[in-house]
Order: sequence, then structure tokens, then C-alpha cells
Amino acid sequence: MSDKLPHYELLIRGGTVIDGTKAPRFDADIGIVGDRIVAIGKLAGHTAEQTIDATGRIVAPGFIDSHTHDDQAVLSQARMPFKVSQGVTTVVAGNCGISAAPLRADMDLPMPLSLLDSPAEGRFTSFAAYLDALRATPSSVNVAAMVGHSTLRAVAMGDLDRPANEAEIKAMQAMVEEAMQAGAIGLSTGTFYPPAVKATTEEIIEVGRPLTSRKALYVTHMRDESDRVMESLEETFHIGRALGIPVVVSHHKVQNTRNFGKTKVTLPFIQEAMKHQCIGLDCYPYTAGSTMIRTDRGMMEGRVLIASSVPHPECAGRDLKDIAAEWGVSGEEAAKRLQPGSAIYFMMDEDDVQRILAFDETMIGSDGIPLGDKPHPRLWGTFPRVLGHYSRDIGLFPLETAVWKMTGLTARNFGLHERGTLKPGNHADVVIFDAATVRDTANYESPMQPAEGIDAVIVNGALTWRNGAHCGARNGQVITRREARVN
Ligand code: ZN
Ligand code: CU
Repeated sequence: MSDKLPHYELLIRGGTVIDGTKAPRFDADIGIVGDRIVAIGKLAGHTAEQTIDATGRIVAPGFIDSHTHDDQAVLSQARMPFKVSQGVTTVVAGNCGISAAPLRADMDLPMPLSLLDSPAEGRFTSFAAYLDALRATPSSVNVAAMVGHSTLRAVAMGDLDRPANEAEIKAMQAMVEEAMQAGAIGLSTGTFYPPAVKATTEEIIEVGRPLTSRKALYVTHMRDESDRVMESLEETFHIGRALGIPVVVSHHKVQNTRNFGKTKVTLPFIQEAMKHQCIGLDCYPYTAGSTMIRTDRGMMEGRVLIASSVPHPECAGRDLKDIAAEWGVSGEEAAKRLQPGSAIYFMMDEDDVQRILAFDETMIGSDGIPLGDKPHPRLWGTFPRVLGHYSRDIGLFPLETAVWKMTGLTARNFGLHERGTLKPGNHADVVIFDAATVRDTANYESPMQPAEGIDAVIVNGALTWRNGAHCGARNGQVITRREARVN
């Protein structure tokens, strides 16, 4: 037996570990070799190429952003400062029916697909081509990607304003099959949005057939998160049962004043359904949402803040009400003139947001839109806001629970193998933060500001963020689905 102690490439010393399983914290050092955690425990006397002193700090698994629109950003803004600065080491992309692939080079894209398109980078005509590009030019974060149903509709259908016919369904099925073979982790839909409003439940089930044998995920921005939210939940669960696969309800919310308080009904309904099938849900910690500029009454009920506008970039950051008054037109007319673009809609109740966040099975997802310089603050602030404001300051749940909602729970629901918890053998995705000071600084006025209290972020063993600055590492990997969560 050799008496030589093991040597690490990176040693995190003296920290308090919250391991992502919801278990109570414990003091331990962590040894890393290559892209893996190799030891957790008292590692005093062990040597390392590089040592990080984590005394007085929390050491946790890197956060997993369960709901993003980073499909193009991971290529065009590959350092991903808005995510890495929060402690995020993995993003789930391809949400709300929108994905970067597959597309045709020459096609016109409808809103909201056009919002996240960047033809300058070139378009990907297959899902395999997209994932290959990500492997060839890695981002600073890991990416698990889904294929979007609205994207498939735009490719397969001339007229989006009707249900798909049999031939179009077959074409979409073939593209889902290709995406699954390439390594997509699931299919997302956004039946709330114009390109998929006319899709029937049956269309979605048929398009989703290739998911069944892989137990891949069905993830949805539901048809209606307002008056008909219960029917939307029923439709979602029905699709999951018909395909025999796990479902994720994206950014669960109930919107419009008349529906405030409805989470007292939706959450018990979800909990009951969970006894019979695999269901996950995510939530962002704000009472305002953000999406493409819309003109429907329901969306314009509360304050509307313009985040970006192609014809009127100077209006970003301003209230729709003020713009309409200045132009002497109705809010609806002003919204029309500002399209295409994105806006921030204040339409939720704080009590509902807290009830959803505190619901045991709710994952944290930002739903950030990495576009322009007046984005919703969730793009830069989601994770520190949950840790600082919701867990520490108002005591909505213990820190161990907060971490679990952004790591272990998410890895389990999305089938992200060997990530989301700190244990030997797992990928070395790690965040070191100060529980006493961590907080979001991004707000609606100044949304592009890094969090405070995030000391270091490590992605697959590479130090990527340290003391408020990006280290330049781009060590993210493409994560493909290994197995579904076992009920
Ligand atoms: Zn959405
Ligand atoms: Cu979304």
C-alpha cells in the first residue's frame, strides 16, 4: 500500500457542503480530477494543483436552469455570463415549442420563433447538426436540448392556422425521431403561441410517438394559464399518459386578477395526478412574465414594460402605457406597432408565486430571454433571488430545499445522469457561494447585473467564474438523455 495521499487537480477546502439531495449540510473538502468529483470528506494534507478556500461558504452542485431559451445564446454568447454568474452550470434549452433545430435555411419564421432565431450564425437543418456545433464550439455551460413542436410545425406546414394533416404529422414525427437519435431529451410545445394554437391534443400525441420507447420528456407551455388553466393541466397529463412518458409543466402560474388564488386548486390537482404518472413543474421567482409582444386584452391587463422592439428599439425599457400616450393611440395599437419584440407583463399574484415555489416538487427555471439590453431580470437574477430573497430573507424554505429545487430534483426529472448532486463519480459541476450575502441585483430598471455572493463556479472541473469575473473557460458538454425518472 502506498502511503502517498491522492493528488487532485482542484481541491475545494473548508466549505460546508449542501449536496443537492435535500440532506442537511455537512463540513467537507472536495477533490476533483479531470471533469469528475473523486473525493468528498476530510482531505487535510492532500495536495492539489489548485486549491480554493471555501471557509465560511456553501459548496453546492452547479445549478441547473430547468427552463431556458438559450438555444442560440450557447453558441452566439458562448460564455453565458448571465447564467454562469448565478451559479448555473447546466441549461435545459428548447422550451415552449421553440428550438434552434431543425430549420430550413430559406424559411421565414413566425413570432415567437423569429425572436430566438439568429440566421447570422447559420441555421441547423437537423438536430444532429445543432448538437455537433455545440460540441465543436462548447459553451461555458452544459446543454440538454429539446426539440420544439412549433419549430417542427413551421418546417412541415405551409399554413400554421389549422391542425396538421396526416402527411404533416408524419413529417414532424420523422423530425422528432431524428432529434431523439441525435440526443434530444424531449419534445416541447407552446400551444399558447400563434404557431401552435390550432394544434389538437391528438396532433401532439401523434407527433410525440417517438418519445415513448425512449421515455423522453413532454414539456409544455400550456394552452392557457389563465381562466382555463385546469383544462390545460388535464390536457398535459392526458398527453403524458397517452404516450407513457413523464411530463413537465413549464413556468407554472395562474394569470389575471380574477384567477389569483387558483394555485390553491392547481397544486393539489397536480399533487393528486403525481400519484399516477410522472409529473414535474418549474417556476420563476417573479410576478411578471415575459414573452413576445402581444395585443390580446388578457395580457395587457396589468403593467406592460417593453423589453425589445425591432421597429422601435428606443422603446426598450419603457411602459407601453406611456408609449401609447405619447403616440396618441390605444395600448393595443401601440403594441401592434412595436411588434416584433418582447415585453414584460405584470400579471401574477405574489401569494400564488410563493405557493408554487414552496410546492415540494417545483423546480427553479429562469425562462430568461437572452435578447437586447432590457430583458426581464429573471435572466440574470433567478437563482440568487430564490437563495437570497425567498429562502434566507423570507424563509419560504430551508437552503437545502432551495438548492435541491435547482439541482438534484431537476437532474432527476430531466434524466441528467451523474449531475445535480455532489458525490464521488459525478461530474464536477460546483458552485461556491456565501449564504449570508447571496442576492440578485438585477431588477426591472437595471436587469443586466450579476448576482452578489457567488464566489466560484466550476463546470466539468474547469473554474469558470471567480470573484465576480468570468475565467474564460468554455468546458460545457452536451447532455443527452440516458433514462427517464423511475416512478
Ligand atoms: Zn413559455
Ligand atoms: Cu419559456
